[in-house]
Amino acid sequence: MLAEEYMCGNDLSELAREIMRCERCGLSQTRRNAVPGEGPEDARVMMVGEAPGAAEDLAGRPFVGRAGALLDRALDLAGLNRSEIFITNVVKCRPPGNRRPSSGEIRACMPYLREQIEIIRPSAICLLGNIPAKAILGVQGVTALRGRVFDDLYLITFHPAAVLRNMGRMELFVSDLAKLREMRSVNRVRQL
Ligand code: URA
Repeated sequence: MLAEEYMCGNDLSELAREIMRCERCGLSQTRRNAVPGEGPEDARVMMVGEAPGAAEDLAGRPFVGRAGALLDRALDLAGLNRSEIFITNVVKCRPPGNRRPSSGEIRACMPYLREQIEIIRPSAICLLGNIPAKAILGVQGVTALRGRVFDDLYLITFHPAAVLRNMGRMELFVSDLAKLREMRSVNRVRQL
């Protein structure tokens, strides 16, 4: 890789280091660890959540708490392997008390997500809940939109925490995730 490309951040681990040093918003003052995301650089599937919670803030890894355990179970039932997926969030640092990230925090953090998508160029991006659906596609209303695919690239489904609150949604959640199996085989040569 050219040194120039590297300095432009055209590399996932360099970008992760930048995120860990980030002070673009006030969340940098209260976080323990930034959570850039994890998974292979050549992942065909990406998953985007809202923001790290307490467990993620402590571990520096996404979806390792109760919502993460639910997500792992649902992925398993859908015939997907977490180790093949790049998992991240719209906002990379924990909002205190797990409040929703503000629009300013989302705006400050979005360039990181865009760059991750540019580097990985996945065939499918699963948006977990309203925050990523609004931040990326400008749409809202997961209950009506779940299971729908936008631009042959984005799949909207519930946030795992919403499934935890109402386990009656588990079956739909798993069937949404199963769509990613088909989507991942689409050619990823595309312009974003
Ligand atoms: N909820 C999220 O949106 N992201 C995580 O990483 C964990 C919980």
